[in-house]
This record gives sequence, structure tokens and C-alpha cells, in this order.
Amino acid sequence: MATMTEIIGKKQRGEALSQTDIAEFINSYTKGETPDYQAAALLMAIYFKGMNHEETVVLTEEMAHSGDMIDLSAIHGVKVDKHSTGGVGDKTTLILAPIAAACGAKVAKMSGRGLGHTGGTIDKLESIPGFKTALDKAEFFEIVNRVGAAVVGATANIAPADKKIYALRDLTCTVASLPLISASIMSKKLASGADAIVLDVKCGSGAFMKTVDEAKALAQMMIDIGEAHGRKMAAFITDMDIPLGFAIGNALEVKEAVETLQGKGPADLTEICVQLAGSMICLAGIGTLEECTQKARKAISDGSGFRKFKEMIQAQGGDVSVIEDCSKLIGKPLEKIVRAPESAYISAMDTERCGIASMLLGAGRRKKEDALDYHAGIILEAKTGDKVRAGDVIARLYSTKPELFAEAEAELLSAYSFGPKKPELPPLVLATLFGKC
Ligand code: URA
Repeated sequence: MATMTEIIGKKQRGEALSQTDIAEFINSYTKGETPDYQAAALLMAIYFKGMNHEETVVLTEEMAHSGDMIDLSAIHGVKVDKHSTGGVGDKTTLILAPIAAACGAKVAKMSGRGLGHTGGTIDKLESIPGFKTALDKAEFFEIVNRVGAAVVGATANIAPADKKIYALRDLTCTVASLPLISASIMSKKLASGADAIVLDVKCGSGAFMKTVDEAKALAQMMIDIGEAHGRKMAAFITDMDIPLGFAIGNALEVKEAVETLQGKGPADLTEICVQLAGSMICLAGIGTLEECTQKARKAISDGSGFRKFKEMIQAQGGDVSVIEDCSKLIGKPLEKIVRAPESAYISAMDTERCGIASMLLGAGRRKKEDALDYHAGIILEAKTGDKVRAGDVIARLYSTKPELFAEAEAELLSAYSFGPKKPELPPLVLATLFGKC
């Protein structure tokens, strides 16, 4: 068996690593036998020299098998999952899971918490009083079989190799590598056990992938990995230059998800959810893409998606009355109005700064251990392309701590750019890619 020094040397010369080389790296690094400095050197060599399809598939497989492989076979029907490469105000899971379930797919979803400027589905759901995100396996499976959807926090042992490697990539500037991102995302998805996976690959200034071509290359690589493991795959390349919807922050986003399920949501959020849900339903074998997209639209207009959301919340111990009357969910946090500093068009928004402003209000965490203020966040009243006059309300900030407003307001204002001309808005979906199935 090659030593770590030999494996690093091989990749440094641009040679392909064998299955045994990759398995040796993942096993020894996960067990703590390979030190960070050798792992970092190998990651940097991969960053510069890349990996071919076979190497990337093997890396994903080894990372997936570094922890538990969840067996969802006790759940009847086709299990569909969805993954987003990260966004601000991205509450799509809350909307997609009940729509897909209402249309006959099974969604046994494991989601994460937010860190830094990005929100996490689990935090959003925990803003609903009583909602349990830690279910034992039997309870999780029973709810998915009975209701069609359940969303729980990812267990500690899903792809532990990825946890270590991701932390190291963050510190060594090796995140933005196609094989490393693909293996990181797909190892967790394969370990989570779904039969079909829809990927939402974000593209734009606030995303890892800055251009549509880069995003397509990443999506295709992940589709290939999924298909090599017998999963049905689809990917959407979506714009990340404008926050999705108007709400950022946990309870505020749940309220916006409820409004969307009731057919009263923002147009951009509604459209993206209909398209993503349509492809989830299609991968579940329920019809053609066109038929399934229509079914997803109907699940909003006939209220079946909203009824399913309430069923899921009740099954997971949540208080459904706060969903029926969202004013109870939102509570009475303090409000600070943010006004336009000039008369102009909003020419661009830095979504990452919007997310940071929301975090500064208490809706997100600076550090993993930070507590959240579920009522904190932002309602955007104006977004890219809108014409505003000096003094118009462009956003409302919410927090239970008034001392947090000044810094958050400055951060949010720095997210807006103004200009004399109406900017051209990118389409919401920049490209779609479907696997061979
Ligand atoms: N999301 C992940 O889970 N991993 C990456 O490498 C990038 C985004």
C-alpha cells in the first residue's frame, strides 16, 4: 500500500489515484492517523491537478462509507431528496417537501443548521413551538410512511470524513474545487439513502460557482456520481444574485413558506418551488416533467400542499395553530425601518451581506454554539430592479434586542447598490440538467 507521501506525490505530478490510494487517505484521515498537514497537501494537489470521473466517484464512495449508510428501504415508494448548494432566504425545503408528498413522492429529509450568513432548514422548523427535529429511526420512518414527508437534523455520523475534510478545506482555501465539492455534497446525499436527488446549484456572486458554465460542470459531475450509484438525478442552475422571496430569518421564513403554500407567496419563490417540486415528483416516477410540474402547481392552488405541511408539523410534535395564524409564530419583536438613501434603481444586491445583516440581528450564528432569536430577521421591501425614492422603506429589521439594529442596518445598506438605469434581471432558472433516466 502506498504511503501518504507517495499518494501526495502522485497527485502533485497529475497522476490518477487508485481506489486503494483514495481509500487509504479517507480511512486514515478519518481515524486521525494521517495528520492535517498531509491531508492539506493532498487537497491542494487535488485543487490544482483535479480528479477524473473514476477518482471522483471513488472519493465520494469512500467518504459516504466513512460513517452510517442510511437504509430507507422500510419506507414504501420512491424516496426523493433535494439539495441546495446554499442560499440566503432559501426556504424551499419547507415548501417542496409537503408539495412532493402531496403529489405521491416520499421525502425522508435530513437537513442542517445555519452557520454564518446562510440559514438552515432545521433552525427554521425549530421556530415552530414543539417541532421535534431529532426523531428516532422508527418514528422518522413511520411519519414518512404515513404522512409522506418528515424533516430531521442530520445525525452526527453521516459522512464524518466530509466533516473533517470540509473544515480543513475551509482553512486551506481548497473549497472551490469541482471534484471536492461534488464528493462532499454527494457523499452526504448517498449516505442519506434517497433513490432520487434533485440538486439546486446556485450560481452568481454569492455562490461557489460564479458562471453558468462552472455551475453546469459541477451539476453534471454530481449527476454522474449519483447515476454511477443507481440514483435518479436532476439539477437546476439557479440565480443567487437576489435573495429568494422577501423574508430572511427563521420564523419569518416559515411564515413566507406558509403563504407560498397558500398561493400567496412571492412570484420568484413560488416559481422555483414549483419547478423543483415538479422534478422531484417526476423522478419519483409519477409522470412526465410537464405533468408533474402541473401537479406541483395544483398542490398549491388546491391547498393539498398546505394541508400536508400541517400534517407533517403535527406528526413531528409542532403546534399547528401557529401555522394557521402566523402572527402567533412571528411574535412581537421590535421593528426598525430601513430607508433608501437616494432616488434610483436598485442595481444589485449582495446576498451574502443580507444574510450577515440577518445574522447580526440574532437570526443566525457567528459560532456553532450561538443561540438563535427565532423572531429576528429581515423583510425586504425592495429588491434588485425596483425603483425607489430617497426615504422609501426598502427593508424592515426585526429583533428582540434594539442594540443590534445599528450594525445590522449598516450591513444591510451596504448590500444594496443603486444606479440610474433599470438593471437587466437574470432568469430565475439559468439551466436544467437531467440524468439519463
Ligand atoms: N456544500 C457542501 O456540502 N460541500 C461543499 O464542498 C460545498 C458546498
